[in-house]
Amino acid sequence: MPDSEYVVLLLPSILTLFLFFILIKRKRTRFNLPPGNMGWPLIGETIGYLKPYSATSIGEFMQQRISRYGKIYKSNLFGERTVVSADAGLNKFILQNEGRLFECSYPRSIGGILGKWSMLVLVGDMHRDMRTISLNFLSHARLRTHLLREVEKHTLLVLNSWKEDCVFPAQDEAKKFTFNLMATHIMSMDPGHPETEQLKKEYVTFMKGVVSAPLNLPGTAYRKALQSRSTILKFIEGKMEEKIRKMKEGRENLEEDDLLGWVLKHSNLSTEQILDLILSLLFAGHETSSVAIALAIYFLPGCPTAVQQLRVEHLEIARAKKQLGEMELNWEDYKKMEFTQCVINETLRLGNVVRFLHRKALKDVRYKGYDIPCGWKVLPVIAAVHLDSCLFDQPQLFNPWRWQNHIITKHKIPSL
Ligand SMILES: *[C@@H]1O[C@H](CO)[C@@H](O)[C@H](O)[C@H]1NC(C)=O
Ligand SMILES: *[C@@H]1O[C@H](CO)[C@@H](O)[C@H](O)[C@H]1NC(C)=O
Repeated sequence: MPDSEYVVLLLPSILTLFLFFILIKRKRTRFNLPPGNMGWPLIGETIGYLKPYSATSIGEFMQQRISRYGKIYKSNLFGERTVVSADAGLNKFILQNEGRLFECSYPRSIGGILGKWSMLVLVGDMHRDMRTISLNFLSHARLRTHLLREVEKHTLLVLNSWKEDCVFPAQDEAKKFTFNLMATHIMSMDPGHPETEQLKKEYVTFMKGVVSAPLNLPGTAYRKALQSRSTILKFIEGKMEEKIRKMKEGRENLEEDDLLGWVLKHSNLSTEQILDLILSLLFAGHETSSVAIALAIYFLPGCPTAVQQLRVEHLEIARAKKQLGEMELNWEDYKKMEFTQCVINETLRLGNVVRFLHRKALKDVRYKGYDIPCGWKVLPVIAAVHLDSCLFDQPQLFNPWRWQNHIITKHKIPSL
């Protein structure tokens, strides 16, 4: 075959390839990515992003980037191409499209320590199922009766242990409270029992590793945490076997028991799945709530009027109950604490217990003219919205009254 003929024969393929490259190129440049800096290879801008800063601020990194690029910018964080959002509208959009356009995507090291069945790691149907199991356990009228009673009991337990004229870290006391509460609800463990104290000790070691760099080397916090993790899992498994034994003997009314019993009865999860679920709920419930409580104790002394108003609200309810001859707090009492609710909301806003979330785009997404390509990480920074002066008047100020009558943000957060 002469050379020329050869070329003619190949021509269509060459043309197709050529077109193909043009299209790919087009596709690549078609994206209108947000502005931003990808930083160094591999580590990107992760170190700057993770530099510690006060909970009531957004930190230097965010501040600089927002003023340079705006509230939506791109970066390279945790080893991945990322779009960071400090935009209230985009954050809302991300959370409303969970499972459709975006899904959870935590760094792999989280799965190593919390377990591959942890809700932080799972996505899709399995995530939904785990979530449903936990929510069903809570909403099962349990919240109103059982949980409220337990909260009161555990609060009194901690308060009564305080000695007069004694100084102690509020955060430790808050942790004691939430740990006891979670241990009761998850595995029916009594506070102060040697077994509970032992678990608490392991749990503290475990927590140190969760928040440390994931280096599995001798002597690191991470390695110790992995050891604590297996001790805790063995412990939970022991509790599980005990429960199954009792169930077989017909001695335990599992349905009304604790989360462990609930999961055994109402789900088909494997042992491994149950262990990871229990461990991650213990972690999630304990960490967030205890920090929020400690922050309320930190913010309130700076605002004596709020303390006064809280006291009035609580004493009023106590007086009314006394007249009725009631002792325990009930759901109606809780509903009456309107100002208390404002204090809680303001603490969560200013305290920013969870500052940002890890998500990943499941499809190419376009928002306000910017593109987020499929597979990119997305970090909705909730804290930046909470501290945005366009949305909250004097955002650095602890002002529970801003939540009264819902006057705030109502007309300002852009609707989608
Ligand atoms: C568990 O599996 C059984 C049989 O496969 C099924 O009938 C039951 O509905 C499942 N239960 C739950 C809670 O998924
Ligand atoms: C507190 O915040 C929640 C969630 O944003 C809101 O639904 C609730 O109405 C707020 N409560 C008060 C008293 O403002």
